[in-house]
Amino acid sequence: MSFVDFQGVTKSFGKTLAVEELNLSIEQGEFFSLLGPSGCGKSTTLRMLAGFIAPSTGRIHVHGRDITDLPPEARDIGIVFQNYAIFPHMTVFDNIAFGLVERGMDRTAIKRKVDAALEQVGLGGYGERYERELSGGQKQRVALARVLVIEPEILLLDEPLSALDKKMREEMKFWIKNIQKSVGITTIYVTHDQSEALTMSDRIAVMNAGRVLQIGSPVEIYEQPNSRFIAEFIGESNLLAGRMGEGRIEIGRSAVPIGEAGGASPGDEVALLLRPEQIRLEPLSQDEAPKLSGRVADEVYQGSIRRYLVEVEGQRITVEVPNRPDLAQLPKGAEVSLYWHPESSVVLR
Ligand SMILES: Nc1ncnc2c1ncn2[C@@H]1O[C@H](COP(=O)(O)OP(=O)(O)O)[C@@H](O)[C@H]1O
Ligand SMILES: [Mg+2]
Repeated sequence: MSFVDFQGVTKSFGKTLAVEELNLSIEQGEFFSLLGPSGCGKSTTLRMLAGFIAPSTGRIHVHGRDITDLPPEARDIGIVFQNYAIFPHMTVFDNIAFGLVERGMDRTAIKRKVDAALEQVGLGGYGERYERELSGGQKQRVALARVLVIEPEILLLDEPLSALDKKMREEMKFWIKNIQKSVGITTIYVTHDQSEALTMSDRIAVMNAGRVLQIGSPVEIYEQPNSRFIAEFIGESNLLAGRMGEGRIEIGRSAVPIGEAGGASPGDEVALLLRPEQIRLEPLSQDEAPKLSGRVADEVYQGSIRRYLVEVEGQRITVEVPNRPDLAQLPKGAEVSLYWHPESSVVLR
């Protein structure tokens, strides 16, 4: 059994099936994310682990112990929410000390631990401040310090960055990951933001409508999505409609080579996933057989890249070309060849 284990966990609220037949195995020290659109059951999953709500069916084990019926305070789990939830009438120091005071720790030990926690989250010297004197990012650091100081076995983070502005979010992503690594605490991170999940996680469970669709490393989830839903939810994707042939896919009048068939049989209607950055775009050439040829329908300059909308076989796909002088700039209307490694494409049923 792994460190955290959900076995056949289902939760319904009246007629709403929030989480359905959930099986998850999370290893000790892992940074594990639950990723999916709003309402897919992420927070419900986290709350069941924290003990705030009880599963309708199924069991949850931590460290081999069945915790399904334990109250929250008997579980060794810390949780940080989206809205900072720090006490406004208390100093930062007292906020962080709160859980230690409750546990009856002596004052010298509390001072030592809180000071260490403040240093750990980069807020040394901020102990006497109040919530109103902190930025959003600093408040979230206090919320995290308040949980870490108790040294729980498991850290749960429920969309902790979603109230922050974009720049702060970017910064906090790396910061949280670094803290997690240095502390080594088993962490379950809930987010609807694919870039957060890809950046921080050891593994990701992608959820939709109460179900886990795929579990894998960021690389696996991005490069080998197992469904159209995941291909479209994570990253940008072109899904070219085609028909499965023998080791090839027929797209309009073209037949393009593929890597693995992804379980599709000849004759199946399939989609070929091609990421915009995996496609090489060149002026139409006779030298090298292109995988597909097409026509530039539109071009957008975006600083670091040029984004082309290309018409191929009556369908439209997006191609991203790094903005480099050695790469072709192609005007609207240009006839073009498209190349890619067959292994970088994915066949989806
Ligand atoms: N306490 C509750 N009572 C009734 N329905 C709820 C409750 N909590 C969550 N739900 C419903 O369960 C589903 C999953 O919710 P939630 O786990 O909060 O999703 P997420 O965190 O992925 O956005 C949603 O349809 C939501 O409306
Ligand atoms: Mg939620």
